Amino acid sequence: MNAGLIGAILAFLPALIANPLAVVTGGGTPIDGGRKIGGRRILGDGKTWRGLIGGGLTGAVISILFAYGISSFIDIYPGSNRSYLIIFSLSFGALTGDIMASFIKRRIGKKRGAKTPFVDQYDFVVGAFVLTAITAPDWIIETYLSGDGWIALVILIIGIPLLHRIVNIIGYKWGFKNEPW
Ligand code: CTP
Ligand code: MG
Repeated sequence: MNAGLIGAILAFLPALIANPLAVVTGGGTPIDGGRKIGGRRILGDGKTWRGLIGGGLTGAVISILFAYGISSFIDIYPGSNRSYLIIFSLSFGALTGDIMASFIKRRIGKKRGAKTPFVDQYDFVVGAFVLTAITAPDWIIETYLSGDGWIALVILIIGIPLLHRIVNIIGYKWGFKNEPW
């Protein structure tokens, strides 16, 4: 069923919360195990297994509870097992995008935590859309690319840098993040 404009925006929740939850749950062994390519870290100490698994799972679980909680008001996912697939793809896709961005940042010589405009705001958005477009292409098309879906997409694309900024300032003030970006 068509989730409508609000539903299409709310459906993106797993991607929005996965990264902040990775910040909260992260730390410990880095995914790259400290390995380097050409003298530079593959990913860096900012990308850890705990952050990936912890952020991905908690992001998905919270989103599932949220979707159940509001399901009597609005349907944001198609229902059945496909909903879980979509939710997990959005949360782990977001974190995969973030990891890919770190890979690129290290290759161009940026140190862990260095500010990288545009990339920092959109890496997880691209990752979430790409992974979900692979696992549930028809849902992406139906929700964001047909009818009024593009409006939700535009609202997300415009709103996310603002949301990202606010969340990161809070994360920094509360001592979860080393930088306010
Ligand atoms: N984090 C983690 N594992 C992940 C993603 C994030 O442990 N997969 C934690 C790390 O403690 C990281 C913090 O969340 O430092 C903030 O995430 P982010 O800003 O993405 O990492 P940076 O430290 O800025 O590193 P990079 O320059 O590689 O983005
Ligand atoms: Mg960063």
